[in-house]
Amino acid sequence: MSPLEVFNAGTLRGLPLSARLGLSALLLVLCGGFLASGAHLIAQHENRDERGGVSMTDLEGAYHGVENTSPLLTAIRGGHPEQLVAAERNVLLHWLEGKRVSEDYDSLELGADAPAEILARRCVECHSKAGLDGAHADARFALSTWSDVSKLAFTKRIEALPTRVLVASTHAHALALAPLSVLLALLVFATRFGARFGGSLCLAAGAALLCDLGSWWLARSFGNFTLVIAASGSVYALATGVSLVLVFVDLWAQKRAR
Ligand code: HEC
Repeated sequence: MSPLEVFNAGTLRGLPLSARLGLSALLLVLCGGFLASGAHLIAQHENRDERGGVSMTDLEGAYHGVENTSPLLTAIRGGHPEQLVAAERNVLLHWLEGKRVSEDYDSLELGADAPAEILARRCVECHSKAGLDGAHADARFALSTWSDVSKLAFTKRIEALPTRVLVASTHAHALALAPLSVLLALLVFATRFGARFGGSLCLAAGAALLCDLGSWWLARSFGNFTLVIAASGSVYALATGVSLVLVFVDLWAQKRAR
């Protein structure tokens, strides 16, 4: 069977069994590869902001660099807890926004106004082992000791990936994924679904990959492109997944007689 005949047949179902088995095995390998990429992506990015899961902060950190505001500071700026009086709130804000977070935590000079004292008065009732085990399980973490507090007290800068790492990643992804998508598009065109979906799947995968890799670089200067990275990465994964499924179905499903 010549390649042209494969195309003209309008389905891959007519290929010899050996070819259909071989193509199916290759599709499975591709699926495995994409799952591994997904796992790698999560493992690489999820811990940048020291919170579980891949967040936009993780991504923006990797591609643009980002200030990861201390969770304590975010909560206190946001008016939590309500019963904290203004003077104490100001002490905590000043402390967390300053450069002496560990030095001033239990500062003797500040006496009863030391952050440690305020936390003990105003937070530990809920944020402590006793609180969490008792009525305040929803408070989620303790703030009783410096080792609890220090995990949440620092605002850290997440630096963007070094240029050479991004160059290596771009070279690997561009040269692997673009040819892969060309081949997958050709396969989809050879299926019974090709006429109806081939063009849009090809456009979706191509445009998404271009936007994704392009945005890796644009995001270095413009943080908003992180959103484009996330959106186009998802579109690419979806278009690729659908293409794989269509090819697989076409290889094995009986074609309906017209
Ligand atoms: C009356 C109980 C109570 C007190 C007092 C309290 N908290 Fe909380 N805190 C909670 C609960 C419940 C949550 C989880 C729900 C939420 O996010 O509002 C929480 C959440 C938080 C969070 C996490 C916000 C997030 O989701 O990132 C921080 C940080 C925090 N508290 C800090 C403090 C600090 C600092 C104090 C003292 C100045 C304090 N809390 C006092 C009950 C309390």
